[in-house]
Amino acid sequence: MSFCTFARSSFLCLVILFPVVYGEDNARSLNDRAALLSFMSGIDSDPEKVLGSWSSSGLHICNWTGVTCNSARDQVVKLDLGRRSLEGTISVELSNLSSLSVLDLSENFFRGSIPAELGALSMLTHLNLTYNVLEGNIPAEIGFLSHLEYLDLSSNRLVGQIPESLFCNGSSSLSNIDLSENSLTGKIPLWNHCKLIGLKRLQLWSNWLVGPIPQALANSTKLKWLDVTSNSLSGELPAATVDKTPQLQYLYLSYTNLISQNGNTDLEPFFVSLVNCSNLQTLELAGNNLGGQLPSVIGNLSTTFAVLHLEENLLSGSIPPSISNLVNFTFLNLSSNLFNGSIPPELSRIGGLERICLSNNSLTGEIPSALGNISHLGLLDLSRNKLLGSIPDSFSNLSQLRRLMLYENNLSGTIPPSLGKCTNLEILDLSHNKISGMIPIEVVAGWSSLTLYLNLSSNLLQGPLPLELSKMNMILAIDLSSNNLSGAIPPQLGSCIALEYLNLSGNSLQGPLPLPIGRLFYLRVLDLSSNHLVGEIPESLQASPTLTELNLSFNNFSGSITKDGAFATLTIDSFQGNSGLCGSIPGMTTCWKKRKHHLVILQILLLLFLTPTLCFFVYRLRNKSKRRHLAASFGAGELSKDEQERKQLEYPRISYQQLIEATNGFNSSSLIGSGRLGHVYKGTLKGNRRIAVKVFDPGMGVEICTSFKRECQVLKRTRHRNLIRVITACSSPEFKALVFPLMPNGSLETHLYPSHSSGPNLSLAQLVSICSDVAEGVAYLHHHCPVRVVHCDLKPSNILLDEDMTALVTDFGIARLVKGGGEDEAITRTIDSLSTMDSTAGLLYGSFGYIAPEYGMGKRSSTKGDIYSFGVLILEILTGKRPTDVMFHQGSSLHEWVKRRYSDDLEPIMEEALLRFAPPPTPRNHSSNAWKQIILELIELGLICTQNSPSMRPSTLDVALEIDRLKQYLANPTTLTLEDVSC
Ligand SMILES: *[C@@H]1O[C@H](CO)[C@@H](O)[C@H](O)[C@H]1NC(C)=O
Ligand SMILES: *[C@@H]1O[C@H](CO)[C@@H](O)[C@H](O)[C@H]1NC(C)=O
Repeated sequence: MSFCTFARSSFLCLVILFPVVYGEDNARSLNDRAALLSFMSGIDSDPEKVLGSWSSSGLHICNWTGVTCNSARDQVVKLDLGRRSLEGTISVELSNLSSLSVLDLSENFFRGSIPAELGALSMLTHLNLTYNVLEGNIPAEIGFLSHLEYLDLSSNRLVGQIPESLFCNGSSSLSNIDLSENSLTGKIPLWNHCKLIGLKRLQLWSNWLVGPIPQALANSTKLKWLDVTSNSLSGELPAATVDKTPQLQYLYLSYTNLISQNGNTDLEPFFVSLVNCSNLQTLELAGNNLGGQLPSVIGNLSTTFAVLHLEENLLSGSIPPSISNLVNFTFLNLSSNLFNGSIPPELSRIGGLERICLSNNSLTGEIPSALGNISHLGLLDLSRNKLLGSIPDSFSNLSQLRRLMLYENNLSGTIPPSLGKCTNLEILDLSHNKISGMIPIEVVAGWSSLTLYLNLSSNLLQGPLPLELSKMNMILAIDLSSNNLSGAIPPQLGSCIALEYLNLSGNSLQGPLPLPIGRLFYLRVLDLSSNHLVGEIPESLQASPTLTELNLSFNNFSGSITKDGAFATLTIDSFQGNSGLCGSIPGMTTCWKKRKHHLVILQILLLLFLTPTLCFFVYRLRNKSKRRHLAASFGAGELSKDEQERKQLEYPRISYQQLIEATNGFNSSSLIGSGRLGHVYKGTLKGNRRIAVKVFDPGMGVEICTSFKRECQVLKRTRHRNLIRVITACSSPEFKALVFPLMPNGSLETHLYPSHSSGPNLSLAQLVSICSDVAEGVAYLHHHCPVRVVHCDLKPSNILLDEDMTALVTDFGIARLVKGGGEDEAITRTIDSLSTMDSTAGLLYGSFGYIAPEYGMGKRSSTKGDIYSFGVLILEILTGKRPTDVMFHQGSSLHEWVKRRYSDDLEPIMEEALLRFAPPPTPRNHSSNAWKQIILELIELGLICTQNSPSMRPSTLDVALEIDRLKQYLANPTTLTLEDVSC
């Protein structure tokens, strides 16, 4: 031994021994300390903040955040740093924690690759790296960890093949494997000689895996849960495997390209094998183009069977009545197949059924009246079939029914008055049938709970509009068009204060257009065309701040109109066929010119009028709030809490008086937007600071209190360049407002639907950049915030643009703060105690057209719901179609509409998008093919995000990354090829 070496090792000894004097450390714990410190140095997101205790030198490692030691307190056995917003890479030195049995770094922002050195952690039983942004391959070394039971690498950016060692190393104790939501390719390497004896749960959904479901899975006789949804597998449904796995509970094989036995003609062998599974609960086989018939052996499956998804296949024949043996069934989805025959009345024996979807088949015959006995039924969708006869009277027993969709059938008869007893209805769509008679008053009176829409259009209804319609004060849309309705439009309709869409066109309505209709505060679309309406068009309509579409054509309206206010964007198309109308809309007959002195008198009158109106307005605002206060809607306790809220925000004080001055007394000329719970005014503070003031409408009572608090809670917790930041909050019992910086470029809505030009004034690059900003903001809310936030109301009007067109997400009025549960248990719990609000106030999360389908079915808000809304947003941007309009004109969601074209012929949509967004070509510009490719990718992303099944939708992080790549490409097309941006 040379002197040098000796000197070095004795120096080492000194270093090691030195701290022992101070603490209980020994060589082993020092070794672990060094490994942890090296791990910390790989974290670049302010480790002090999250791992505070790690850097205080005196503290023993066993007391560090997230660290658990063995009983001797000399070695780390558990490192649990999930959900701490850590950014950085995973240090290879972690492999020195030789006794580590649990490593959980889930839900952080770790990037780079998974160090192969982790394969040295021979004691490891749990490895959880889910929800990070890890790249590269899964190291084969992980597969040789012989004690590993739980392996979760899901929701990362992993590529390549699954290492064989994982599935085929002879000594595996793996019981739970989750590799979902990556970009893994190749076959599932569970070769015939391999055994995963202990496997209970295998999740591989959302990858690019090919090949068959391995037969060797039959050796995993304890298998309970198999999910390979959304891969490109091949071969037949795994009948032989299922035969050997009697404990199977959850089997998810949707969107996998698997086929039925005997050349895709026979489902029976598969269902016969399932008979062995005595605990089966869920079977999902949607979207596989499966052929054959639904075998009647389905009735022999376990009575534990509760959920069946067979939608989007090619199944034919009739629905076997034996299905009614499955007495614990809750959800039956057979929609979009080729089923014929009639609906088996035996279904009614399944008392617990909550949802029945049989739409888009070729079912014939009458709707069995026995369906009325299914007392828990919440959703019944029989639309798009060939059903005959009338709506059964017995539906009056369906007291839980929330959605009834019977559109596009051949139903006749009248609307049974007893239907009014379904007092929980949110959506009723009976359109495109041959239903006749009057709209029964009893029915409408019972439907005051209808919160989404009532569609009775394209039937043979006659008689007057029932006054009781006015009781639907939460309804968003009413479509009674193309019937034979007569009489006058009742002014009471003005009480449907939430109404955004009203279509009474194609009837025989008479009389004037009542003033209160124009005052509906959220009205966007009003179609009264092709009736016999007379009189002048009420000024209230022109003054409406929300109205964007109006069709009054083919009536007998008279009088003069100007091109002001809401009418500024309208063309003659909205008014044609009214011979008595004149005015300044291009194409319209000009009116007889007023003489000058008329104008002068008018101006004087206006002046005299205007000043008192202003005072009156402010007076009313205050007075109304005072009454509210007396009515003790907000008690004194609330005040102090709100006061706390404001203090916690620690923002500058701006008095009510200053806000009045800044906004001209909340003058309607300062109004820049309105939402369900209030209005937004623009204003200028002293010192020229431009602000937007969101005033919560005191008329909404306790709801605004809730909404205001929620928004405060969220704003308090969020800091991100793509989320709006509050300047201050004003809160007193009678006045609640939030003050934001004014965004000079308005909302995305105003750019998508500009008032003057014919198309959006944004380029594709700008739109991609806006989408990217929104995705970043939302990803922050979902994954990075200290408390997870679900926005719940993503739509163009909630996206604001600052001076350099950076997008900021706003309006957290109905956002949810959630915690607990993985993404899979999307039904995350609300931590504010306000969730009870939702049912009582009838407030569905979000805006019609953007709401995820599962929300209507009793699911709680989830990040996947936001992804759905985001997908709708992308599709809306690219098609230039509002989701609500598609819903009412085409009878389907925007997702379905685009999807149909996607499988059919997408070219027209692409061409149109190209015309609207692509800039004129320049030398370094892309060919139109490159542009098309980008549009195509965005459409695909939109479609993926709006899939019906929440678990199929990508995570927000993935969406953000995907759009970011498109953005990079657009910014620098020469350095990247398009292959880089494909999904
Ligand atoms: C460290 O943890 C031990 C055991 O949990 C405890 O007794 C001790 O007080 C802790 N030390 C410090 C400095 O927190
Ligand atoms: C990994 O962690 C997530 C939460 O961070 C959890 O939902 C999931 O169940 C864990 N996976 C395993 C296999 O324990």
